[in-house]
Parts: sequence; structure tokens; C-alpha cells
Amino acid sequence: MPIGTTAYKFMSQVILAFISLCFFACTEQLEQTQKAARITDTATEMQAAVAMPDSYSADVAKEILQKGGNAVDAAIAAQFVLAVTLPEAGNIGGGGFMLVYKDKKTDFIDYREQAPLSAHRDMYLDENGDVIPYQSVIGILASGVPGTVAGMWLAHEKHGSLPWKELVQPAVNLAEQGFKVHPKLAGSIERHIARLEKRSFEVNFKDYFAAAKANEVFQQLELADTLKRIRDQGRDGFYKGQTAKIISDFMRQENGLVTEKDLLSYEAKSRTPLSAKWREYQLLTSPPPSSGGIAIIQWLKMYDILTRDQQKLTHNSAAYLHLLAEIGKRVFADRAEYLGDPDFVEVPVASLIADKYLTMRSQTILKDKISVTELIKPGLKESEETTHFSVMDKWGNAVSNTTTINLGYGSSVVVEGAGFLLNDEMDDFSAKPGVANVFGAVGGQANEIQPKKRMLSSMTPSMVLKDGEVVFVTGSPGGTTIISSVYLSILNALEFSMSAENIVNKPRFHHQLLPKDVIRYHDGIDPAVISELEQMGYTMSNRRFGDMHVILNKDGKVDAASEANGRGKSIIF
Ligand code: DON
Repeated sequence: MPIGTTAYKFMSQVILAFISLCFFACTEQLEQTQKAARITDTATEMQAAVAMPDSYSADVAKEILQKGGNAVDAAIAAQFVLAVTLPEAGNIGGGGFMLVYKDKKTDFIDYREQAPLSAHRDMYLDENGDVIPYQSVIGILASGVPGTVAGMWLAHEKHGSLPWKELVQPAVNLAEQGFKVHPKLAGSIERHIARLEKRSFEVNFKDYFAAAKANEVFQQLELADTLKRIRDQGRDGFYKGQTAKIISDFMRQENGLVTEKDLLSYEAKSRTPLSAKWREYQLLTSPPPSSGGIAIIQWLKMYDILTRDQQKLTHNSAAYLHLLAEIGKRVFADRAEYLGDPDFVEVPVASLIADKYLTMRSQTILKDKISVTELIKPGLKESEETTHFSVMDKWGNAVSNTTTINLGYGSSVVVEGAGFLLNDEMDDFSAKPGVANVFGAVGGQANEIQPKKRMLSSMTPSMVLKDGEVVFVTGSPGGTTIISSVYLSILNALEFSMSAENIVNKPRFHHQLLPKDVIRYHDGIDPAVISELEQMGYTMSNRRFGDMHVILNKDGKVDAASEANGRGKSIIF
């Protein structure tokens, strides 16, 4: 359904209503993570690398690779470590996507959360049909059924080489013995508590996290016990038995929706990754229920169609930003209309990434004029906290994994007795057609709430291959801005031949159709470019997004980097 004018009004109101929450939740990770350590331990001959959002996950992933584990083993171990040391996004109470390239074969593990069985389309609307602020974002009703443990188990069963217990044990140790809290994490937790209190949200976040003080050891004993059950019983240690009982009892007591039946019936799914030819490369990326794979393929192909017969654009020039913003308008109009869980709606993937369609779609883009937002419709006629990491082992296998509980610290609700934070992923559904979620994304029927449906995501773990070898592993958090971070990183790597460090640190920008003509950008874009774009009619919004961790494997050299703004760590060894 095309988005109507009334819907636009609704949407702007909701964006305003959510803006402060979005600000504190989405930028939180970015505020609290300044200047990551990029550590290159040794030379690059062995060609193994990890690029992780914190030092604990980087060190554990490296250890797993060094004791003979493959990239998937390292990724699973890192995922569990992050559930302990990166509470704002690492999780066992959320979900994500893992893109795997192993033994020259591809796989995509979809461990996205799904709507509980008792969820329904209008569950976040009041009696007047208006969206109830915050209900899909903070508190017990915001959570989808978690997918992480099922996802890691499936990845292990299909691709793992080391025993499961060895992959979960490092996380158990960090939860049980505690870990030293980074001052940025402590600051972030403190600010999150203050904001929850200011708005009088009745959630138990503070009871669990107030004790995490800068440079002090922080233990999470309930979480350690939950992780032990997962270590000893595999996926059943979460979806059955004691953990499942703790979760469902807690949900009943708090009037939440997730039941034993929801947990028992959750399944991680192995899907075929999206694959598209782009220049001499093969793009390997995320299929629905991610919107990101389709989006980055559209973005990169339209970029080539529009620049084919001209000189290469200067990186981060006004012409470059404008062109990519224009493409973004069209990408996000399609996203809002066509994309949703492929098990519930037919997503016209092939049509959306067809060269012919994208050539037609590019025709209305002008080099010196902004298209009128309201006139950009879906094109087919016929019919801010997440975390990312990248791993490459010495055999050339790679994993690109993005995982989330949605906003920073998810719903801010900890399962009492099990010690982990629950996601607030239900906000990624379209609560009402045309009404924006916290990321300003709108949607319609394709992404409406239905029991067991997976909410549309922007998470886009991706890789680029050449002649069957992985040349680039990329991904980022950042809600809808993930898509921009990912396609821009691919252009940085392959159009502008940058080093890994430059790929992640060069200022980025994002436009997503709505809010109208707004380009969000990082510090560091030339002020003259900003004024030129403002003169064209853009509103320029200086707000950081993303936290990239990439691995580049080009010209016989492995290079890896974590964004300097975060608290990540990359190691090549
Ligand atoms: O799946 C999605 O698109 C969102 N839940 C991701 C949230 C996110 O990246 C927040 N990070 N800053």
C-alpha cells in the first residue's frame, strides 16, 4: 500500500514522540564507545582475523581459532561472550543473522526473534487506533521470542568442529568470575538508568546492572547458571526445562506474552543467502526477513548504472552524497511496501534486484535536484543497539554475524532468575501502516504483526567474494542506517580501495526517504559539502551511527579493523 498523506502526518508525530528515546537508546552505544583499540598482534601470513565489538569477544574468538576451531566455532563463542560483556546488544534474549561461507559453500542462519503466538496486528494501538508510545520499545510487551541460542545451536550442528561446551564455557567464566567493566560501558549503564528513572519506566534493569562500575569486576551469577544450562543441554537448556520455566513463569507474572509453547516452537532457520553479481564480484548478503541484502544490492547496482558513463565521483563529495541519497529514497520506498517475513508474505526478491528494474528505477534521478519525497512510490508495478562481528579463519572460511536485542539494553527487562535482558524487537514490526518505528522506518501489510512472524530487519551481515574467495566481510549495528554502513563500506573497499581502518573510519552518511530530505552524517564530512547539500534543499543532521568491524582479504593480505568510535578490537594473526 503506498503511503498516504495522513500517514505521513502520523508518522512525523510518532517520530517526534520517539525521538528522545531513540536518541538515548540508539546513540547510547556510540556515546559510550570512543576510540576503540585496534590491535594488530602480528603479521598477516596466517590470514586469520577477528573484528569484534569488544576485547573479551576478540580474545576468546582468537583463542578458539588458535586451538583449531573454524570461523563458525569462533563466532559462536564470541556470541555467548558478548551476552555477558556487551549487555547493550550482545545477548541470549534477542536474535540476529549469521552469514557463513565455509568450504566454499554458503549458509545463512536466521535466528531472528518472532512474534509470540498471542501477538496480533493491533496490539500496540489504543482504543482510538493510535500507536501507544513506548509499548513496543520498553517493558515486558516489547519482546519477541528470542532466537539466539537456537541460532548458535543450528550453526554448531551444521558447521561447528569443536565441542559445544568449549564454545559456551568462556562466557560462563566471564559471567561467573566477572569481567572488568570498561568505563564507557559503566557510563552508558549509568545514563540508561537515569533516563529510565526520568520517564518512570517500571523495569528491573537497575536491579541487575547498577553494580557494574567502571574498572571493577562485575559478576552475573544468574546469567552464569543460565549459560551453564545452555552449555550442558545445548538449545534445550534455553527452550525447555528450567530456563524455559523461569522465562514463562516470569512472563506470566509480569503479564508478558512469551509462553512455554512459544519457546518450544521457536526454530532457527537456515536460508539461502542472497547472491548477486556486482562488477567482477559476488555479493553475498542477507535475505528476508532482512531488508538489508535487497537494499544494498539495489544501492550498489543503481550506483553503477548512474555512474557508468562518467568520471569516478570524489569520495564524500556533495555529488556523491546526493546521488546515494537519491538512490536511498527509492530503496526505502520499496522496503516499506514489499518487505517482510518471507514465510508469511511473498517478497518479490528477484524483481527488486533485477538490472532491468533498477535501470528503470534510476531514470528519474537527477544529479542536481532532490526528488520530491511524496512522489517516490514503491517501484514494482505488477504486483540504534545491535552489534556486529566478522571472523575469518586460516582456511579462508568466514562468518559475518549481526545480533541484537534492538535498542540499547533491549526492553530494559531482565528475566528474573535467568539473568538476561529481553529484546524489544516487536518495534521492528509496523505497528500501524505508515507510522514510523523508532528508526523512522514505515511499513504496511507485509510487515504487520502476526503470530510467529519474524519482524523485518535491517541487519545486513554481508561478504564480497571474488573467484570463490572471500575478499571482504562487513556489517554494522544502527537500525536502518546499517544498510548505509554496509553498502558504503563495500564502496570504500572496492570502489575507493581503502584499507580496513579507513573503510570503518571514513565519515558515513544515510538517507532513507523519511524524514523528508534529511541526510544524517558523521563528523568529518567537509563543511563545504554540507553547505552545498543544504543549498540543494537537504536538511543535514549530524548524528553518528554504526560500529563497523570488517575484514579485508585483498592482494594476498588480510587486513581487519574495528571502528575507532567504538570499544572494538581487531586482531590479525
Ligand atoms: O533488526 C533491526 O533492523 C534492528 N532491530 C536493529 C537495531 C539496531 O541496529 C540498533 N543499533 N544501534
